[in-house]
Amino acid sequence: MIFGRQDKETPVKRIMPRHIGIIMDGNGRWAKKRGLPRTAGHTVGAANFKTITRYCASIGLEYLTVYAFSTENWKRPVEEVSALMKLFRQYLEEALRDFLNENIKVRFIGDTQVFPEELQKLIRETEEVSKNRTGMVLNIAMNYGGRDEIARAARILGEKVARGEIDPEEITAQAISDELYTAGQPDPDLIIRPSGEQRVSNFLLWQSAYAEYIICDILWPDFKPQDLEDALDEFSRRQRRFGGV
Ligand code: IPE
Ligand code: IPE
Ligand code: MG
Repeated sequence: MIFGRQDKETPVKRIMPRHIGIIMDGNGRWAKKRGLPRTAGHTVGAANFKTITRYCASIGLEYLTVYAFSTENWKRPVEEVSALMKLFRQYLEEALRDFLNENIKVRFIGDTQVFPEELQKLIRETEEVSKNRTGMVLNIAMNYGGRDEIARAARILGEKVARGEIDPEEITAQAISDELYTAGQPDPDLIIRPSGEQRVSNFLLWQSAYAEYIICDILWPDFKPQDLEDALDEFSRRQRRFGGV
């Protein structure tokens, strides 16, 4: 079920977003419902990430940003964090192999310098092998926080002012956008949050100023291409005004 959905029977002309963000939430609850450890939910969630990524590329989406690990997720029990790090490593090793022939350009957003060196190396390799691809851009948000990203942009601009390269007046909204991890990409048109939680959880704070939010109560491991299609229908029904009339 998509919350706040209206008039779902009326046929609608599909309006395709250029950029979709997904908060891949609900892995822990999915596992708990089945009497499994939370990490089992993360494993199934990671497999679903591949399915949905491929599906998005197949329907011609230009940009997909997935939230994989937030700057706040370090608060979790150490066993869960290490299981996630192991999964990221496995996933990237597989992605390097599986996505070899797929035209997806992979980028990482977030402060990845804190990850174990082995993982950082895989991150660099994945970005390197896919950098000249012309298909969908996949941003994987890892150790990502919207506040952290904005603070980082402010620091970069502050340093430029201190070096006399720019004047404070040149710190415009555009200048800030240009220092975010997503610089040069269009803002997300649609953000989907499975699992039913109705909050932002520090995802793409700056970029989502005018994004349409779709919250659905399906847990991420159960989220199917058809659920994405339903979200796209709902998106097509929304009237975006960007402050105008
Ligand atoms: C999202 O699922 C995955 C990560 C945050 C890494 P959760 O682990 O948050 O699952 P729930 O919300 O506890 O069900
Ligand atoms: C957001 O989910 C982060 C990711 C899905 C990676 P959380 O599960 O961390 O968010 P809260 O704690 O419910 O707000
Ligand atoms: Mg969660």
